Amino acid sequence: MKIAVIAGDGIGKDVTAEAVKILNTVSSVFGRPIALEHLPWSADHFLKTGETLPANGYDLLRSFDAVFVGALGDPRVTDNRHARDILLGTRFELDLYVNYRPVKLLDDRLSPLKDRGRKDINFVVFRENTEGVYVSIGGRFKAGTEDEVAIQEEINTYKGVHRIIKHAFDFAAANGLTKVCMADKSNAMQQGHALWQRVFKALAPQYPGITATHQYIDALAMFLVKDPGQYQVIVTNNLFGDIVTDIGGALQGGLGMAASGNIHPGKTSLFEPVHGSAPPLAGKNVANPIGAILSTALMLDTLGAREEAKAIEAAVEAAVAQGHTTTDVGGSLGTKEAGDAVANFIKKEPATFLRKP
Ligand SMILES: NC(=O)c1ccc[n+]([C@@H]2O[C@H](COP(=O)([O-])OP(=O)(O)OC[C@H]3O[C@@H](n4cnc5c(N)ncnc54)[C@H](O)[C@@H]3O)[C@@H](O)[C@H]2O)c1
Repeated sequence: MKIAVIAGDGIGKDVTAEAVKILNTVSSVFGRPIALEHLPWSADHFLKTGETLPANGYDLLRSFDAVFVGALGDPRVTDNRHARDILLGTRFELDLYVNYRPVKLLDDRLSPLKDRGRKDINFVVFRENTEGVYVSIGGRFKAGTEDEVAIQEEINTYKGVHRIIKHAFDFAAANGLTKVCMADKSNAMQQGHALWQRVFKALAPQYPGITATHQYIDALAMFLVKDPGQYQVIVTNNLFGDIVTDIGGALQGGLGMAASGNIHPGKTSLFEPVHGSAPPLAGKNVANPIGAILSTALMLDTLGAREEAKAIEAAVEAAVAQGHTTTDVGGSLGTKEAGDAVANFIKKEPATFLRKP
């Protein structure tokens, strides 16, 4: 496996070091080579060279089996240009239409909800990743005056809506899940979201074993907090998915715990923790590396290295259960030590982990 690694900015660098540690660990334990190539693309690189990514940057990324990203965002780059080119640009250019974000509570102790635990918080969110309001179509007229007009269009195409909803149903069917919930705002956004309604209703009957339900996004946000146990698979658009997966991160114990994949099935895909670069925490050995580490498990699983992925997930679970974590999730370790704890579990007893369901 040939992986491009973009550590990026802020705590992206800190957590990527631990993700790399884990990739090297599973490679040596399981004997499957993983070649990592570090790309320097970041705010530092942009400020030094004026380049966000090179002219052939997206083609270069396509030459890898997968891309791992830490996080991008730096207060010195006020228009966030480098992050937009590197992260959003890659999502669009590589057509990574599936944003896959599992929300799984690893220990009851981390639940922010009263009387809700592991049995209640275990679902996945599929966020459409290439359309919606993030395509940056629009403009500003009379900017800076009291007559300013700002237009930001939301794009929904049949192809884009169909492929993400189909992916959610296919995922449920392939994983023995029986419930898919689509969330939109079709009561208020009657053009674009009528398309989501039409496609969802047309696809649902093709999956007779799956109960297809619909919720307006505001109701879904409320139910995620009140009754998250009702969900197995959620599918929604780019903006709503961005927001509800931060709620998902909180349900897992904090943003530092959440992993994600930006996927085009069968093509080069990008994996990253859900959190950002958290500048105040950068370089202090305090950031939680678990979201980044679990993102490597998603990446390996997607590339077919299922045993390695399972071993990482089991090792993270063991580390969390035994409190070998950073302070944001109740432990007392630094970033490096929390990464070591996971690596040690993988080294110690990979076979034991694999026997677990
Ligand atoms: N995918 C990405 O690269 C990505 C995602 C979101 C935000 N950003 C960028 O990151 C920068 C900071 O954004 P923000 O502050 O809104 O979001 P953030 O995710 O960086 O931080 C939000 C909060 O969560 C905490 N947090 C996040 N990750 C953590 C971790 N691993 N361990 C412990 N605590 C953690 C931080 O302390 C902070 O309080 C901005 O430039 C933003 O544009 C990048």
